[in-house]
Amino acid sequence: MTSHNTYGFHTRTIHAGEHPDEATGAHGTPIYQSNTFALGSWERFNDFWEGKEGVYGYSRDLNPTVDALEKKIADLEGAAGSVAAASGMAAISSAFLATAAGGHAIVADQIYNTANKLVNENLPGLGIRCTRVDMTDLDAVEAAFEADTRIVYTECFSNPGLVVADIEALATIAHRHGALLVIDNTFLSPAILRPLEFGADLVLHSATKYLAGHGEVLGGVISGNADLIAGLRTTVMRFGGTLSAMSAWLIMTGMKTLPLRMERHSANAMDVARFLSAHPMVEQVHYPGLPSDPGHETANRLTRGSGLFGGMMSMTLRDGASAIPHFAESLKLFTFATSLGDTASLCWPIYKTDVVRLSVGLEDIDDLLGDLDQALGG
Ligand SMILES: Cc1ncc(COP(=O)(O)O)c(C=O)c1O
Repeated sequence: MTSHNTYGFHTRTIHAGEHPDEATGAHGTPIYQSNTFALGSWERFNDFWEGKEGVYGYSRDLNPTVDALEKKIADLEGAAGSVAAASGMAAISSAFLATAAGGHAIVADQIYNTANKLVNENLPGLGIRCTRVDMTDLDAVEAAFEADTRIVYTECFSNPGLVVADIEALATIAHRHGALLVIDNTFLSPAILRPLEFGADLVLHSATKYLAGHGEVLGGVISGNADLIAGLRTTVMRFGGTLSAMSAWLIMTGMKTLPLRMERHSANAMDVARFLSAHPMVEQVHYPGLPSDPGHETANRLTRGSGLFGGMMSMTLRDGASAIPHFAESLKLFTFATSLGDTASLCWPIYKTDVVRLSVGLEDIDDLLGDLDQALGG
């Protein structure tokens, strides 16, 4: 089953992009652990150079296991195509290089730390000028356009502040100026939000997180229309950020439970957010699922009233930054570790700030609440 179709989301996470192996009947997609592919005939050699579907030549260009993963993701995003990359950062850097080289980009003022450093410290030297704006201030976005603005780039729910970007409004503004809207949707995944449906031109993920879902692999993906993905594929391939077959297989295996996991992550996170909001040792909780959150209305529209807002949140403590070390060291079930989107709950204080980020996992909710309560000194 490789094409877009009328099946439901759960069915497509399991079947899209995959089919039993023709040679052996193996039901699961094999890990094609080979860097090169025997072409055999002159005709196939020409097919390879012309990029014919299903003809593989070299795994930096395309590997059959990676191809299956890309087709699965494209199907779930409602995209014409996807390209996989070695990490979320490989996807992000490729997106900038492929779409904004030699021009200007409008970038959200709050994005994931390493992407932030890429934008501030690497892109200017590569000829990509960036203006940083608060994406919730649409007038500021409008005012930031320059004659050569190529893209508007934002996370949908930002890392770590969970600021919600109105993809629909941003797409309208970007397109009026002839620019593309590029969304990092790592925090929600296509099981909850599909940015292309709201007018975004490219959606990317750190597949390391919820897509793979088990904390065991690095990867990235970018989806969009055929022309954009062709350009991105060339960029990923020439800059060498290709995903390995083994990693693609791990991501694809994890993805088969994506919508089930996202429901549970969201339900647990909602309970954790409510609990922390009412806790005397907590100053503020940022979780778009809370009706009091400034982004709630927009988040509710983008998630189509599903009641699912993902597993990520951040908070500040009543006693400020000085209370964070004791809290982080006292946790017994939440792991004091970076990353997110794992089955296990993770806690990550944002270095030299008073913010603590939580990635709420799939454990029993009473165990999670009990752990937070004891670490907060409850
Ligand atoms: C929102 C977001 N985008 C991208 C990345 C980068 O992904 P990777 O670690 O797979 O390079 C991260 C990593 O935490 C992230 O949180």
